[in-house]
Amino acid sequence: MVDFSLKGKYALITGASRGIGEAIAMALGQYGAHCILVSRKMEGLEAVAAKMKEKGYEATPMVCHMGYVDKIAELFVEVKKRFGKIDILVNNAAANPYFGDMLGADEGVWDKTNAVNLKGPFFMIQNAAKLMIETKTKGAIVNVASIAGIRPAEFQGIYSTTKAALIHLTKSYAKELAAHGIRVNALAPGLTETKFAGALFQNEDIYKMATAAIPMHRHASPEEMAGTVLYLVSDASSFTTGETVVCDGGMVI
Ligand SMILES: NC(=O)c1ccc[n+]([C@@H]2O[C@H](COP(=O)([O-])OP(=O)(O)OC[C@H]3O[C@@H](n4cnc5c(N)ncnc54)[C@H](OP(=O)(O)O)[C@@H]3O)[C@@H](O)[C@H]2O)c1
Repeated sequence: MVDFSLKGKYALITGASRGIGEAIAMALGQYGAHCILVSRKMEGLEAVAAKMKEKGYEATPMVCHMGYVDKIAELFVEVKKRFGKIDILVNNAAANPYFGDMLGADEGVWDKTNAVNLKGPFFMIQNAAKLMIETKTKGAIVNVASIAGIRPAEFQGIYSTTKAALIHLTKSYAKELAAHGIRVNALAPGLTETKFAGALFQNEDIYKMATAAIPMHRHASPEEMAGTVLYLVSDASSFTTGETVVCDGGMVI
């Protein structure tokens, strides 16, 4: 029987206070997971946790900045103390502080983008996998990359580079952790309506240009990303690891 149930599982989702992360948390909560909602600001997390609880789902908000390795270590000390284990990790939070050509980029934007999009997920997986191995948990990890990691997006060279590296990090960890029964996969979203992609939605000409390049001629809602993550973290995908699933309306075919 195909099994999408997440009952009794603890799922930590970063960037869960809005957008794609919120939609992922809702979907995993709907299928029975206790969701640990993580981002920098408690206010947004509490609002999502309240919405989830209204629907009868389980959620706990916890603050952590993905750019700081010591904060990530503290997060996992707290997770272990409160829940004892973790079954699912979704590295969804990301930063894109610079829009422009790479020749004009300074060290600050390089460091910030790499810290949140690559260093953070690396150490999140390291901490999560150590806890999974210690507790003999056959876990599932999903990294939210981007189609920019497959085909570089214009004026987003640094962001695109971190997402390409995240896809490779997914494969590297998948190989290393398979022996422990831990699977690591990635989702590569295309244009999705969130605050992150806000600039594209505010200008009609840019929006028309962006959607003209998508064979389905439209953008996605955050909820359209959540089903793929549900598949990748559930036993329905039990023989899949190291894979990147593209959800982009056909753009990078
Ligand atoms: N939207 C798109 O078109 C699109 C396309 C391709 C890929 N993606 C990817 O999808 C993922 C989610 O993006 P989104 O569009 O849903 O963005 P969003 O709506 O802006 O949400 C970003 C989330 O990340 C959190 N966050 C930001 N910086 C953080 C940090 N340093 N540490 C911890 N949490 C942090 C934010 O909460 P706080 O402010 O509270 O920290 C928020 O919850 C990202 O990985 C993005 O690269 C998006």
